[in-house]
Amino acid sequence: MAQQQNVDLRHARTGIELRPGLDGVPATQSAICDIDGERGLLTYRGYPMEDLAANSSFLETAYLLIWGELPTCDELARFEHAVQMHRRVSFRVRDMMKCFPASGHPMDALQSSAASLGLFYSRRAIDDPQYIYDVVVRLIAKIPTMVAAFQLIRKGQDPIQPRDDLAYSANFLYMLTEREPDPLAARIFDRCLMLHAEHSLNASTFSARVTASTLTDPYAVVASAVGTLAGPLHGGANEDVLAMLEEVGTPEKAAGYLDEAIAAKRKIMGFGHREYKVKDPRAVILQSQVEEMFARFGHDQLFDVARAIEAAAESRLGPKGIYPNVDFYSGLVYRKLGIPRDLFTPVFAIARVAGWLAHWREQLGANRIFRPSQIYSGSPPRTWMPPEERVSAPAA
Ligand code: ACO
Repeated sequence: MAQQQNVDLRHARTGIELRPGLDGVPATQSAICDIDGERGLLTYRGYPMEDLAANSSFLETAYLLIWGELPTCDELARFEHAVQMHRRVSFRVRDMMKCFPASGHPMDALQSSAASLGLFYSRRAIDDPQYIYDVVVRLIAKIPTMVAAFQLIRKGQDPIQPRDDLAYSANFLYMLTEREPDPLAARIFDRCLMLHAEHSLNASTFSARVTASTLTDPYAVVASAVGTLAGPLHGGANEDVLAMLEEVGTPEKAAGYLDEAIAAKRKIMGFGHREYKVKDPRAVILQSQVEEMFARFGHDQLFDVARAIEAAAESRLGPKGIYPNVDFYSGLVYRKLGIPRDLFTPVFAIARVAGWLAHWREQLGANRIFRPSQIYSGSPPRTWMPPEERVSAPAA
């Protein structure tokens, strides 16, 4: 069997040290989003998140992220109208989704549906600004429709068509629940989308940029990012947070749960972040959204459990810089909005497509294909032997 070599963790030619997970390694230059992880500050194109969450809308924020400036009244009206005009998906996409297993995860359904758009819109003209605009509009418009369609299809129902009189977020909640949402619920949902729209070079955005750097089609870029977002260490954590809150059950059990999990070296879902060493500013805003929701639509006792976990974690995880991240409170908002748990991550994708597209556009503007190196840790050179001369070796 090949012996694992005692390898030097520096690259032989460049002398650059291996940093697992690329921790702290700049992999691109970007003007889209900035994070100050020590002070808990997040800006999109220079605008503080708090300012945008209070005053902007998801579509306006998406425009800002992708084109770099807040739109004028005319630009915003044109963008909103274009998105409204492209919300419908082809009956072929709907029929394809009807063939997906109802038991499949909605993120897998979304990844497949997003990738399938490349079959329907095969023109590729990445040097043409109108093409870029059309792609942006199409993806931002159609992803919510596809998420809502799969939800109804898996229940054995026909998807319902978007309603032109409803704004972006209200329309999504309508397509999902078949009821026109309360304006406050739609407003809070829209704010959640803004909070999730972009977050610099996180795993799914990196995935999008790597895929974009090959100059493949934008639907493949978004599909690869959706697949990356699905993992439980990334966007998928919001589902696990709710499962954890239910498992803990009551605020009194929070401290004991944490002690047991920490002793067993289990991660607390919705806590920790590579960039933030303080509480994620998005979690702060989301927490206030939860409170606003409950004041209007009734309390959820899982919120008390969440608060108790956060309080108990302060002394146990705080000294290591581990605090609630964006996923900790988002699930409580979505649960109150009647969104099923396994749609939490697809909802995250509805928002994050804005960031992915901003990075796609930026990557195309100064492209160089991503091709990092590796430190080889396998066998030294050896000679092939016929099967009868081999002895079986334990799998590496
Ligand atoms: N609970 C308990 N301990 C934690 C947690 C946590 N949630 N997160 C990190 N730690 C500890 C680790 O055990 C490790 O401790 P050690 O040094 O004693 O071994 C140390 O903090 C560093 O942890 P890493 O996993 O190396 O940190 P990394 O920066 O690689 O990971 C991540 C960041 C993936 C977010 C991690 O904190 C985690 O797994 N959190 C839980 C999952 C989660 O909430 N993900 C959503 C992140 S936000 C987003 O993607 C939208």
